[in-house]
Amino acid sequence: MEQNAQKEREKILEIKNLCMEFPAGKKKTVKALNNVTFDIYKGENFGLVGESGCGKTTLGRTLIRLYNPTSGEILFNGKNISGKLSKADRDYVTRNLSMIFQDPVSSLNPRMTVEEIIAEGLKTRGEKDKELIRKSVSSILNKVGLLPEHGSRYPHEFSGGQRQRIGIARSLVVKPSVIIADEPVSALDVSIQAQVINLLMDIKKEMDLTILFIAHNLAVVKYFSDRIGVMHFGTMVELADADELYAHPVHPYTKSLLSAIPQPDPDREKDKQRLYYDPSMHDYSKEQPSFQEIRPGHFVYASDSEMEQYRKEL
Ligand SMILES: Nc1ncnc2c1ncn2[C@@H]1O[C@H](COP(=O)(O)OP(=O)(O)O)[C@@H](O)[C@H]1O
Ligand SMILES: [Mg+2]
Repeated sequence: MEQNAQKEREKILEIKNLCMEFPAGKKKTVKALNNVTFDIYKGENFGLVGESGCGKTTLGRTLIRLYNPTSGEILFNGKNISGKLSKADRDYVTRNLSMIFQDPVSSLNPRMTVEEIIAEGLKTRGEKDKELIRKSVSSILNKVGLLPEHGSRYPHEFSGGQRQRIGIARSLVVKPSVIIADEPVSALDVSIQAQVINLLMDIKKEMDLTILFIAHNLAVVKYFSDRIGVMHFGTMVELADADELYAHPVHPYTKSLLSAIPQPDPDREKDKQRLYYDPSMHDYSKEQPSFQEIRPGHFVYASDSEMEQYRKEL
């Protein structure tokens, strides 16, 4: 994507110095997000990548305000949604920011029918018109490739891929403008992953959505992300256009993730060098690192002397 065009694009989410800590015993906390700062543009497909436990789900849940940020700011369409929310603001957030949860099995209540599960979002937002609810549910079932009669069944009657479609339908029924898709295909067979991703991308176009797509490896987000952010232990370590990130990765953690992507060509796969990242390689005892722009639109978490070295490498 054209760098300049992107600069002029409208920001739908602005995330500034976002921190989130979980309580962990007496007076102790676990820092799950550490000064995360980035924007998401309207209509883009933003891929967020990092290994398990690095804070991806926490970021998603904090953005939709299931969690309260410890500090920092979240602006949605210019409106600050990071503080205490009034009922009206809470509704505004739930209506506009919707999440597809990581685990399609445990996130669907086994005692509710598919129709009840999908309708829940409409009901919480105060919709009482039964006919309208029924119509919305059947239309959204259609959209995700299921049948209206599936509405009366229970989650266990469906395959993993179908359950994820139900999860997608549930997040879409409120007609949100942003979808946070938390590893929506990680639990699915490889053969089904592409189907679900294609479905999401079709719906994205049709419903004019912005997507934050979370994955634990770069292979998944490679093909459809406009930009990609790489997280490590609660810190965003690199962010760039997808093409730029693949062609010119700068942070050693990004390089290690890239080296882990399987090559389709067996010869190249055989010769591939796997890189391992050791965070102790950074000496931040004298210089504080920060998230800095190394090329237009390409950011990396580095100290000033690392920046100098990274610039030389580029
Ligand atoms: N509800 C919670 N209570 C305490 N710690 C949590 C909770 N959820 C996540 N964490 C911790 O926060 C960190 C980030 O977790 P998470 O956001 O789930 O990572 P990811 O989605 O990238 O795998 C991990 O160290 C995890 O153990
Ligand atoms: Mg997660």
